[in-house]
Parts: sequence; structure tokens; C-alpha cells
Amino acid sequence: MRIILGIGGGIAAYKAAMLLRLFSEAGHDVVPMPTDSALRFVGAPTFEALSGHPVRVSVFEDVETVNHVRQGEQADLIVVAPATADLLARLAAGRADDLLTGTVLTATCPVVIAPAMHTQMWENPATRRNVEILRGYGYTVVEPAVGRLTGRDSGAGRLPEPAEIRDAALAAHAGTRPRATARTEVRPQTAGHAGPRADDERAGDRTPGGPRREGPLGGRRVVVTAGGTREPLDPVRFLGNRSSGKQGIAVARAALDAGAEVTLLLAHTEVPAPAEEAGLTIRSVGTALELREAVFAALAEQPADALVMTAAVADFRPGAYRESKIKKDPEATDAPVIELVRNPDILREVVQRRGEGGPAPALIVGFAAETGSEEASVAELGRAKLCSKGSDVLVVNQVGTDLVFGSDRTAATILVRRGSETEETDVAGGKDDLARRLVELMASHPDMRRR
Ligand code: C5P
Repeated sequence: MRIILGIGGGIAAYKAAMLLRLFSEAGHDVVPMPTDSALRFVGAPTFEALSGHPVRVSVFEDVETVNHVRQGEQADLIVVAPATADLLARLAAGRADDLLTGTVLTATCPVVIAPAMHTQMWENPATRRNVEILRGYGYTVVEPAVGRLTGRDSGAGRLPEPAEIRDAALAAHAGTRPRATARTEVRPQTAGHAGPRADDERAGDRTPGGPRREGPLGGRRVVVTAGGTREPLDPVRFLGNRSSGKQGIAVARAALDAGAEVTLLLAHTEVPAPAEEAGLTIRSVGTALELREAVFAALAEQPADALVMTAAVADFRPGAYRESKIKKDPEATDAPVIELVRNPDILREVVQRRGEGGPAPALIVGFAAETGSEEASVAELGRAKLCSKGSDVLVVNQVGTDLVFGSDRTAATILVRRGSETEETDVAGGKDDLARRLVELMASHPDMRRR
């Protein structure tokens, strides 16, 4: 196939040469299309020698061939790696001020973008917004890896290894979604493209895993989060929690058994991740911020009918990540003070976005762990939390020494909002039992039935 390899002007441009080679070795015809700034990092002869194509940057070269239209029409796949913050902004805005952006605008093939930049730029709201816009166009935006950046700093923003980008790009072209290869590293976000295949899937004829599934949730898409997030302090330490992931995995299983197409967003779990199967897509995440991003990507790429937030999300993270291990001074008796900052409340944000008319599921389910006290029972605390979170359903786990965390058994109250009333169902038994009961309630919920 003919692949256009767009290359942005970042230090990671050298990795584009390796990516070009991987595609060529697999028998693809690769047309390199660097930006002007990319050529400040790697010279045109490198790309020309590796690809056998002349390098063109501007629409004012080969004008007689109307090159950007020709290239766009002939392309089977466009891969932009690395994509800088500026290139993301230009693509999101629909600019056509060089050959690459002009070609992307004229092409109808899948587009896969692998951003690379410093963590601050990647986390900047402007960049976040541009990524969301690009995903909204149906482009696949591959998550950057976490690791060493250009200088002595490290964090999220590193270009994933060329082989991982190749795999994500070929999977996007094939219309499949590969499972993430490692926690906190590359996570292909979407294989969707607003072409004929995506339309067929939206029409409900097929799921990525095969024909439409039968059951009370047949034809429905459910996004489930599971496990506990880990917030890194330094290369060897993190702030974590005791979530085993068993409950979230049980919810995913019960939803699959009920015929749903399930996207399972897995933070750290104490139990093995489920094996891949038809109808199940798994993505691994590390931190609360990564989970937030994975949730919004999963909701943006294809409409979801329900979101079940089973994961234990850290409310706080260390304000600063130390690049090298925090050492104790053998002479001193004091200890370092770790400053924490608040993490966003993902569940609340999804509820808020739905209120503003954004892409959001019909049914939003939260989980909460409470111990209860003399002042308030577990159910009372649950009712208050259902109100404050604004979800449609809240599963309140009663946590005690042997209950819930890590155990196969659980005791919970499922609170379902019915107009101004709240319906309460107590469930005690296995986590599988609670998951099945929850899925039954979801399938019979009027907001799910209306869709
Ligand atoms: O406030 P609390 O942590 O008890 O709320 C638990 C629920 O909120 C869970 O569904 C959890 O997945 C979700 N949550 C979240 N973002 C956070 C903290 C919790 O989405 N930062």
C-alpha cells in the first residue's frame, strides 16, 4: 500500500527514518513528507534514499501535478510521526499551509498521528483540545509514551518506538484495535475513520470482533474502568491503592456475556487481565490522568451507551515527579515532604460534559467505597455521593477488614436514580453476582432502553 509519512519538526524526527524503513521492509511504498522544520533535524537525502521518492515540502513544488491533491488521492494511509504541538494545532484547525497539511485535507484514507513533545506542552489545554478535535475527525491519535524526553527531563510526551507506531498504524488501516503492549506506554486510541467501514459499524451490522452480539445488551457499547491508578513519585515509587481490579473485570465479563461490545480500561490490577476475545477491547493505563484521557478517547471514538467507573482513581498525585530516586541523607533525621495536587474527578467531568451536550453515555455508573460511621450509614453516604457525583447509578461498597478489597466477595448497595426517587438494591455475594445484578439493572434502565 502507499503510505504518506508526515514528519513534524521535533527531535524525534530521526525516529521517522526508522519508521520509514520498517514500512518499506514490509513492502509498502512510503512517500516521506516532512515539514520545513523537520528538515532542520534530519536532512532530505536521508528520507529520499530510504524511500526512493523526492522530498517535497511545499505546495509550490511540482505545481503542474497539483501535488497535494494527487498525493491525497493516491494514499492508502497517512502516518504523521512525530507530530509536534504546532503540527497538531495546524491539523486541528484545518490549515493547508504546507504540502503535508494540504495533503491530509484532501485525503480520504485513515490518518494516524503520533505526537511527541514535552510533557507540559502535551498536557496544555490547547493541545488536549486539539487532540480531541483530531479524534473527533476520526483520526487515530497514538498516545505518547512516558520516558526520557529531549533534555534531562522525563514524563509523558516521548514518541513511541517505531515498531509500536507501525503496529498501531497498520491496525488502524485494517480497522482493528490492537491491545496495548505495555502499561503507561503506547496506547492506540482509535481505529475509527469516517469512511465506509466506520459507517457500517455504527449502523450496528458488525462489531470489531465479529457479527452483532445477542443478549440484553446486544448492540450496546459499554466502557468499563477497572483496577487502581498509580501516581509515580520517582522512578521506583508510586502512590497506589488496594484495588485488585476483580470487580471491574467482573463487570466487563457480565456486560460481554449480556452481548455488549466492551472497552475495558485497565489500571493496575492484582489479577491477570482477561484474554482478548470478540467484542472486547482492552487498553492499559497507569495514572489517573492517563485514565482520564483513555475515558474521553473511548467516549469520543464511538458513541458509548454506558460508562461504568469501577476503577479506584487516585484523588491526589505528587505535584512533582523526581527523575532520579529520592535519597535519604544518612546524616540527617528529617524526611522529605511530598506535596500532592488534586487529580480531576473523571466521573464528575463526564457527567458535566453530558450536561453540556458533549459526547457522553446514556448511563453513567460510579462506584464508591465507604465504611459508614456513627454519624452516617453506608447507604446515607451513598445517597449523598450519588447526588454530589451526579451519576445515574452508584454502587456503594461497604469496605471492612475482610470485605471488598482483593476479595472475591463483596457487599454493596446499588443506588439507581429514578426521577426524584432513588431505588436501592442490596447485594451480598461474589463480585460476579454483583456484576451480573448491575448489568441486569443497566439493561432494564429506561435511558438504555430508549437508545
Ligand atoms: O469520590 P470517590 O473517590 O469516592 O468516587 C468514586 C467514584 O468516582 C468511582 O466511580 C471512581 O472511579 C470515580 N472517580 C473519578 N475520578 C477521581 C476519583 C474517583 O472518576 N479522581
